[in-house]
Amino acid sequence: MSTSTMTASGPPKTIGLLTSGGDCAGLNAVIRAVVSRAVLGFGWRVVGIRQGTAGLLQRPPLTEKLDLGLATVNILRLGGTILGTTNRGDPFAFPMSDGSLADRSGEVIDGIRALGLDALIGVGGDGSFMILRRLAQQGGINLVGIPKTIDNDVGATESSVGYHTAVMVATEALDRLQPTAASHDRVMVLEVMGRDAGHIALAAGIAGGADVILIPEIPYSMQAVAAHIDRLRRHGRNFALVIVAEAVPDRTGRQVRQRQAFGKTNYGGIGHILGEAITELTGAETRVTVLGHLQRGGQPTWDDRLVAQAFGVHAVDLIGAGRFDRMVAWQNRQVVDVPLADAILAPQLVDLDGALVHTARGLGISLGDA
Ligand code: F6P
Repeated sequence: MSTSTMTASGPPKTIGLLTSGGDCAGLNAVIRAVVSRAVLGFGWRVVGIRQGTAGLLQRPPLTEKLDLGLATVNILRLGGTILGTTNRGDPFAFPMSDGSLADRSGEVIDGIRALGLDALIGVGGDGSFMILRRLAQQGGINLVGIPKTIDNDVGATESSVGYHTAVMVATEALDRLQPTAASHDRVMVLEVMGRDAGHIALAAGIAGGADVILIPEIPYSMQAVAAHIDRLRRHGRNFALVIVAEAVPDRTGRQVRQRQAFGKTNYGGIGHILGEAITELTGAETRVTVLGHLQRGGQPTWDDRLVAQAFGVHAVDLIGAGRFDRMVAWQNRQVVDVPLADAILAPQLVDLDGALVHTARGLGISLGDA
């Protein structure tokens, strides 16, 4: 399908657009691209749905008309999402005030119907796609997905919107930690996000010159980590940089989680446990930085903006071609589309035989294994 040859045909359509799940940099670039392509390329109307599926539970549903004036001025550079989003409140198991879970999927579908949409573009990660796909099947909704997540764990795509910016932020953190580590003869531990995937830690660790990279996909031993830091010392190094993904377990194999409001549990805290263990085993002074939501905010990098806009244009073109239940994807330097079902089959974890693991090992970085 060629973008340049696509023309409007048939009556004008109204398409809905929502952002769902945790925010990330580049979502506004997606919104801008969808509106530009739909309005300029097809003469369609775009209705922005506010707060993801939560906005569809409200009556009337929370919406925002996305015309060229609103959606294309300045938002390309803007972090977050002008539509708002939510990463809680699965409509199929919605937490009610009395503590019970209710199926409110019918209400969400009614909300979509009330908007008279011909198609819906959902910008989300694997969790959001599972929910949106189920809603689409139940309600006969023409759905197209655009992958976004700093975790980069959506299947069938090499890149998701937001990932590059998160890696850039984590790399910059290592750039800033290195001089202070060297000034004070310290081991710096940097804890990054990524949920069950180690993509951010691995990429930023290589780009930022980490000495140790710990990811959930590779079991580690504290002895191996300590031995590597001791070895660096024997070779005259007075500092070390350690990057750890949030889902890496502690020495007993237990992942470190924090209870949040609304029944959510997030990873967080392994950095401090690791720092203490390094001090105990090596005698080194350690300091710990937990990067947290800094990885999700701020201006998108150039490559996130490119991916976001390429995805936005292709998603609208899929609707133009009447092709639904598909997700746009980045593969082999091309924007393609794949069945949504393929994207949510399983989270895309770090490939242990892939180029980045090979590169890290080749550089002498310890991955914590023997
Ligand atoms: O999935 C994106 C992500 O940022 C994860 O890396 C992290 O574990 C989680 O979301 C944090 O979620 P919340 O926004 O609820 O704190």
